[in-house]
Amino acid sequence: MDPLDSLQAEAVAEFAAIDDPDLLEQVKARYLGKQGLITERMKALGGMEPEARKAEGARINRVKTGVEEALNARREALREAALAQQLAAEALDVSLPGRGTGAGGWHPVSRVRERVCELFAGIGFEVADGPEIETDFFNFTALNTPDDHPARSMHDTFYIEGSDRLLRTHTSPIQVRYMQAHQPPLRIVAPGRVYRVDSDATHSPMFHQIEGLWVDRDVSFADLKGVVTQFLQRFFEREDLQVRFRPSFFPFTEPSAEIDMAWGDRWLEIGGCGMVHPNVLRHVNIDPEEFRGFAFGFGIDRLAMLRYGVRDLRLFYENDLRFLRQFV
Ligand code: PHE
Repeated sequence: MDPLDSLQAEAVAEFAAIDDPDLLEQVKARYLGKQGLITERMKALGGMEPEARKAEGARINRVKTGVEEALNARREALREAALAQQLAAEALDVSLPGRGTGAGGWHPVSRVRERVCELFAGIGFEVADGPEIETDFFNFTALNTPDDHPARSMHDTFYIEGSDRLLRTHTSPIQVRYMQAHQPPLRIVAPGRVYRVDSDATHSPMFHQIEGLWVDRDVSFADLKGVVTQFLQRFFEREDLQVRFRPSFFPFTEPSAEIDMAWGDRWLEIGGCGMVHPNVLRHVNIDPEEFRGFAFGFGIDRLAMLRYGVRDLRLFYENDLRFLRQFV
């Protein structure tokens, strides 16, 4: 074979065998660099006769073009191979099913709270709210609770040092806040967390209550008993559910009663209630000669324990998914 042709064939074969782009550039120099084999031949043209130089120059140029084309083709092939490899390495299988994050579900106490609010909404009660960090005034004073009442003891609730603030011991302060802002007639329920220094299977230092308040011109104790009894019968879906009012005392109601319901062969206490004390109405500038009302407070956790047959209150707060999943 002609030496120039075999030089071209050699370059083309050598390029084709190279997989590394850097190496390809080094090998290119052997042919096309300043001292490359093809460049040397170009330089040698200088010593030739004009006729022969013209013919030989044309041949070298053709070979040079052929080698450059082979080089460029190889460069392009290597670039495409590298890209294909990168794409394969980074490939995402978009058809793979996701792991999913789980839809979650309502906590049993929240379910009961929502259901209680819904049942009362059905008979015209609005839902009200108040702060968990209360002042002594709303938690006690405005509720006609004297300074020497045992609930004010340092042991009975959580006080915030150096202030008149405390963690509310019941949802009753919401009665006062709501009546300060609204004129009767009014009808509310107010659910929320409350706090007491108390801890055993049926008492937790944090638990939930729902307050009820109805103030109007002619609200009676009979209405109170009717509303409470019907609510419990609907909540437990038992029309024959027995409800008992047991005489009791709260500073902010008069008369007052504990609400008991029959459960098996026992009576269970699930809340307190009474007619709003005239002093409470006076505190919020409602004339007790014109208006009266009733109030009640249920333990939401107690209702949840009874409804779901949970014996230990603490299960509600341990966040054990095996327990909580049963309610979803
Ligand atoms: N706040 C009372 C308690 O926590 C319950 C109650 C509410 C009593 C409303 C009467 C009226 O024990």
